[in-house]
Amino acid sequence: MTGVLRELRDKAGVRLDPVHRDFFEGGAGEETALADNERAFRRLALLPRVLTGSGPADTRVRLLGADLSTPVLLSPTAFHRLAHPDGESATARAAAAAGTVLITSMAATTPVAEVTAAARSVREDAAVWFQLYLQPDAEVTGALAERARRAGCSALVVTADSPVFGRRTRDDRNGFHDLPPWLAAENMRGLPGGPPDAVRDIAMSPALSWDDLRRLRDATPLPLVLKGVLHPADARRAADEGLAAVMVSNHGGRQLDAAPATVDALPAVADAVAGRVPVLLDGGVRGGADVVAALALGARAVGIGRPALWGLAAEGESGVRRVLEELREETAHVLTLCGAADCSAVTRDQVVRRGPGPAVRSGGPWREEES
Ligand code: FNR
Repeated sequence: MTGVLRELRDKAGVRLDPVHRDFFEGGAGEETALADNERAFRRLALLPRVLTGSGPADTRVRLLGADLSTPVLLSPTAFHRLAHPDGESATARAAAAAGTVLITSMAATTPVAEVTAAARSVREDAAVWFQLYLQPDAEVTGALAERARRAGCSALVVTADSPVFGRRTRDDRNGFHDLPPWLAAENMRGLPGGPPDAVRDIAMSPALSWDDLRRLRDATPLPLVLKGVLHPADARRAADEGLAAVMVSNHGGRQLDAAPATVDALPAVADAVAGRVPVLLDGGVRGGADVVAALALGARAVGIGRPALWGLAAEGESGVRRVLEELREETAHVLTLCGAADCSAVTRDQVVRRGPGPAVRSGGPWREEES
């Protein structure tokens, strides 16, 4: 992990109420997937190409019609006002200033229209996407999608890895299951079927299917991104169904604890999609080398969850900006060291497993004890 991220994580850890810190940091079950997301990146090494004449690397990417200055997006995370009083508005301004996308959560503590307004106060053309869970009541899903569209969101991110809530060990131990009374999931206010000011609970349902996703696709003009894809067949199906992108994610290890690390699942998903739609990835991205490894293995861009929350909790808007700036600079640096001119110029053959491989063991110039 880069020094800046570690510094902000440690500062956030001191500032946050320990129960809220556990909510942000924790995973499901034994936190196997949570730990493996980061560890899987440590298992990878990058093979640089030399004398490519590429010049300093360009980190810009184009994604669903948006021109971004960095391949690092902000993945959707709940309850930013638990981390900092400025909440999602601060995060939105930081993302806009860094030239990237904020995917604002359905479980945000700031209504989506305020989030887009905050982003646009920094940059006219700032891109904000809205994350939602399909609701069992299609009318509610449709109302959320329409609200996001009117607020100026340019894509919907449908999180599909949550047929039920994950079992969060730390939250169970701490008895943390509700927001404090002064905060609410503001996007859930005033939806169909309830009183105008009532806040609906976010529902999760294992009965939802591709039919429900298709209903949303047909009801909204916005492009849809499917988040939480790990199986290559699901990624292929998403492309067949006309989705605009897929996001390889295990929800930061907060849902199925037995899920693989996302970077390990990425190559098969990229193969299945075969370039028909962009592939995104989140989970465990903590430095420029992680970003570059994901790009080389087939991702167009990556998302970060917790690192942005560390920045927000530690220093508000400027903390999130520092995280994004650090990751952009490191990504540029690592790309340049790899001989790549831009984010699309790193290739799968440049990623290898770390550790003593057969070439070293079978009589290279080194002996084990020297390495
Ligand atoms: C999340 N994540 C998430 N995902 C989503 O689709 N909707 C949501 O509301 C949330 N909320 C949320 C809260 C917190 C505290 C965390 C840590 C995560 C998952 C998130 O979008 C993303 O997949 C992971 O956070 C990525 O992993 P890293 O970067 O945190 O390792």
